[in-house]
Amino acid sequence: MSVSMEMIVNLCKRRGFVYPSCEVYGGFANTYTYGPYGVELKNNIENLWWKTFVQSREDMVGIDGSILLHPKVWEASGHVSGFNDAMADCKECKARFRADQIIEDAIKVDMEGKSTSEMDKAIAENKIKCPNCGKTAFTKVKKINMMFKTHIGTTEDDSSTSFLRPETAQAIFMTFNNITDSTRMKIPFGIGQTGKAFRNEITPGNFIFRLIEFEQMEIEYFIHPDMWEKSFDQWQKEMWMWCTELLKIPKENLRIHEHPEEKLSHYSKKTIDVEYKYPFGFKELYGLAYRTDFDLKSHGKECGKAIEYFDQVKNIRFVPHVIEPTFGLDRSVLVILLDKYAQEEAPTADGKTDTRIVMKFPHYLAPVKIAVLPLSKKDELTGEAKKIFNELKSHWPCEYDETQSIGKRYRRQDEIGTPYAVTFDFDSLEDKKVTIRDRDSMKQDRIEIKNLVKYFNENLKV
Ligand code: GAP
Repeated sequence: MSVSMEMIVNLCKRRGFVYPSCEVYGGFANTYTYGPYGVELKNNIENLWWKTFVQSREDMVGIDGSILLHPKVWEASGHVSGFNDAMADCKECKARFRADQIIEDAIKVDMEGKSTSEMDKAIAENKIKCPNCGKTAFTKVKKINMMFKTHIGTTEDDSSTSFLRPETAQAIFMTFNNITDSTRMKIPFGIGQTGKAFRNEITPGNFIFRLIEFEQMEIEYFIHPDMWEKSFDQWQKEMWMWCTELLKIPKENLRIHEHPEEKLSHYSKKTIDVEYKYPFGFKELYGLAYRTDFDLKSHGKECGKAIEYFDQVKNIRFVPHVIEPTFGLDRSVLVILLDKYAQEEAPTADGKTDTRIVMKFPHYLAPVKIAVLPLSKKDELTGEAKKIFNELKSHWPCEYDETQSIGKRYRRQDEIGTPYAVTFDFDSLEDKKVTIRDRDSMKQDRIEIKNLVKYFNENLKV
């Protein structure tokens, strides 16, 4: 059976992965809080990314740049003038839409780069209907800049205006000179960063798919222009490897979509998206763009001093070109939740069957690795089980649970994706062994307590 967004949203709230934020005030639209299991899952993905693309590579370094950057950054990058979405409101039901999208969906004509008056005309001439209520009465199309504005200091005028970054990338460009001055990195090399980005999206939604505050994991890979195609292909392979071998997403749930030339961002010569098959269709998961020398050149112009690289071997000076692999962290969490969700028939303790929900996360991504469960609440069992718990939790994130029946406790751990449960029973007092239950196969193994750490060291890597 296929998973729906509703099933994931419910599970996330019920089991503590993701909550709607500020629920006591009735919620705050399109903002979410990662709960105890969600934050572990998110951190595990982020740490794996950092290890794979920053720490394990000779040609990469990492930074943690500021969220507030000099206002000139956003002028040079083109975000002040060009980071706009066209919006129109339905006069009847007040729903808000991306104007280009409702036109494109209705008449299948590309609206990229069209002016607001051209969009008004297209809406009127084609009698475009509101996707929400079906009426044909829209406000005039308006372009709004998607950056969140704020003011620094005590005065609120143009001179104090600053923006929350809408992409982490620009913080990396701002650090290019620092890195070449302070480290031994030689082109080709990359700078990686993870962190928050903010966008005043007109149509956020689909849970954590499109947020107004989200996390990106981005790489700006600096190259000589001669090698852009080779470098682009290599990064495409790396991204595919990340999706299929590390996140373990089946290939049939992924596809590559190349942006047609007329849809490319102002800075890009070639862009592909890695798309995932969400319940609402194939949509972007990650992106890979050839940003040319657009950013470094623009910043060099704006600040009055070219940002260049000197190749000592070839004795040439040039503005580096950039290949940009970009990964959304919240989308990665969403995809893992969707992809690893399973509902299956499972035997119950009394010999019948029922349906269990199980999150089949790769072990290294699971929020909790081992659950320690005494068979009953009797002191003779709980005391010993606690000792095992204390030993294991010094190695891995573990949970101790002595509430409810053992069957219900197994089901709860299945729903949060815990790969192993260790049960301490009355026999354990005698034979010094415990039962280890495997989340996916539900097979049970009897293991000596003294061998538990060795057992999990071997089995938790996959
Ligand atoms: N620096 C390039 C850049 O920001 P992007 O395609 O706009 O490119 C990169 O964003 C990635 O960030 C996307 O592939 C997606 O995973 C994630 N992303 C973008 N907008 C998002 C949003 N509103 N909510 C959640 N994730 C988002």
